[in-house]
Amino acid sequence: MSKSQNVGTTDGPRVAVIGAGAIGLGIGWRLARAGCPVTVFDRGEAGHAASWAAGGMLAAGVETEPGEETLWLLASQSQRLWPDFRYALQADTGLDIGYRDEGTLVIALTRDDLEQLRFNYEFQRSLGIELEWLAGNEVRRREPYLNSGTTAAVYCRHDHQVDNRALVTALKPALLKAGGVLHEHCDVTGIEITSGKVSGVHAGGTFHAADVVVVAAGAWSRDLPGLPEAERPPVRPIRGQLLVLKMNPAEPLLRHVLWAPKAYVIPRRDGRLLIGATTEERGFDPRPTAGGVFSLLEGAWRALPGIEELVLDEIVVGFRPGSRDDAPILGPTGIDGLVMATGHHRNGILLTPVTVEAISHYVLTGKVMAAIQPFLPDRFRRPEPGARP
Ligand code: GLY
Repeated sequence: MSKSQNVGTTDGPRVAVIGAGAIGLGIGWRLARAGCPVTVFDRGEAGHAASWAAGGMLAAGVETEPGEETLWLLASQSQRLWPDFRYALQADTGLDIGYRDEGTLVIALTRDDLEQLRFNYEFQRSLGIELEWLAGNEVRRREPYLNSGTTAAVYCRHDHQVDNRALVTALKPALLKAGGVLHEHCDVTGIEITSGKVSGVHAGGTFHAADVVVVAAGAWSRDLPGLPEAERPPVRPIRGQLLVLKMNPAEPLLRHVLWAPKAYVIPRRDGRLLIGATTEERGFDPRPTAGGVFSLLEGAWRALPGIEELVLDEIVVGFRPGSRDDAPILGPTGIDGLVMATGHHRNGILLTPVTVEAISHYVLTGKVMAAIQPFLPDRFRRPEPGARP
């Protein structure tokens, strides 16, 4: 990373970003603002793959499970970065990205749910996550349309939400205004590597010279043409189906983000009510299934029976980039100038600010921030602790 000491100048490293989702656009925006010539490529329309199909939950707290203690540190750091990221984006574009801070409720409907809720509550509190235990009557006072059999809930005031579609819709002009270039519907057909260093990408029939190539192509990252075998990130598509219902925005059924035992439900200010999401290993099959739609509707209906009156407006199918250990893959590779920003699995929107900060910092200074040390691409090449040589 010899050409990396140029913060704030107009002759920073030339950067090619592959993938114009929230992560790729965000990195492009930040680096263009710092004075780098940046070009972002996407095989489709910017922001219309996984970022479009997401829920936008910034749920670092209630989504943390045993075994994810290291990921929690990264996620909570990103959660803290979110307000500044939002204000900077809104200041650059004048666009509202639908950030809501009512917080998140996780509810229990049955005795089994209650056991699970108690277990997660105690585990998450042991990590220092600020949570409040609510009795059934208190939950229903806060959300009157919940199933009257709701027995208890956990409330997390720090787990907010953002409208992921508004986010990518704002990131696109932010990138362009900062001087970045965006090529949509433009497949990258090759990554040029000479003597162990990237020199650019082939896309749209043209060679684009670059000192740094950032792979932010989500579930498509593994199969990018031109990636050396040893550098292919172990990422696969984890399919998710999500439904969009329509409420009357003046009479919303719900105000908080809601985690019910079998589905999550997210109210948007414009009246959309999202119900998500399935988790499926079906490759890149874009067709929704009756079983997927049924399980989401049933899970949401058990928590919020009033949804049966609502119009079903959209069925969305998206592909999360799941890595071998379900954690993101961030930072430099064994090829000089080739940088990974992929594998965000369920947390792409939540992890956008910390990914943007860490990858930009690396491109501009050549230094790896402590926050991403556990998520470097080379971890898949290191032997497992205790493994025989
Ligand atoms: N983060 C929610 C999902 O992946 O379904």
